[in-house]
Amino acid sequence: MRSALLNIMVQAATKAARSLTRDFNEVENLQVSRKGPADFVSLADKRAEQIVFDELRKARPTYAFLMEERGEVAGTDGQHRWIVDPLDGTTNFLHGIPVFAVAIALERNGEIVASVVLNPAMDELYTAEKGGGAWLNDRKRLRVGGRKHLADCVISTGINSRGSAGDVRQLRQLAQVAPAAAGIRRTGCAAIDLAWVAAGRFDAFWEDQLQPWDIAPGWLLLREAGGTMSDFAGKPGSIWNGQVIAGNEDVHGQLLKVIKAVP
Ligand code: IPD
Ligand code: CA
Ligand code: CA
Repeated sequence: MRSALLNIMVQAATKAARSLTRDFNEVENLQVSRKGPADFVSLADKRAEQIVFDELRKARPTYAFLMEERGEVAGTDGQHRWIVDPLDGTTNFLHGIPVFAVAIALERNGEIVASVVLNPAMDELYTAEKGGGAWLNDRKRLRVGGRKHLADCVISTGINSRGSAGDVRQLRQLAQVAPAAAGIRRTGCAAIDLAWVAAGRFDAFWEDQLQPWDIAPGWLLLREAGGTMSDFAGKPGSIWNGQVIAGNEDVHGQLLKVIKAVP
């Protein structure tokens, strides 16, 4: 049984996902046009965000928002804030790759207490509430993987190519992590990366330069599934400094050691 709060969040995500799914089916037709579907996708993103905003505001009129497109929207209760990425995995969406999600977290007095990550193309709904565990499609309780050695692990990451110093450093990190692990993956959707670590599909995930809305929803899934998260210096997880190393305790520690050693 979902709580009333999670119901509200799932309903908002589901409604936005319906709109995204319609648009995703259109994207395939637009692939062949010379201009490509980029403008169309940006509209799809904004439409999805508007739906999430309308639904959540209707249900909880006093809560504030931090949204990727719209930015900050003040609330009146001073305690609650929704953190929303209406379309995480934009590049996948644009290319017709069915790995994208609507991601919503609720912050209460600075702490993430509920979250939803919905990937409609794979029919996967991830939910978590503080103290209530993390779940896939309301049926399967999530638990991080049990592997103990980095050499046996599949590790996910996000490599960006905007040429920033952080991007270049991440390539150096990749050069160290790849030979130490069993395999490297890049989903293109940080919320799903964290959800899949929570589900034990990936043993760990690391990325730099993420935004709070990329991290917050998956972070609670991970925590409720028994996972650990920190920044690259080993400081406990935060949604604010962009750095994530996530995994079970053993693998997190080993990955942190490798990452820490990269200048
Ligand atoms: C992106 C995805 C991607 C990550 C990027 C994010 P967007 O979010 O989460 O996996 O590598 O850093 O910006 O732009 O698709 O919402
Ligand atoms: Ca986004
Ligand atoms: Ca994002």
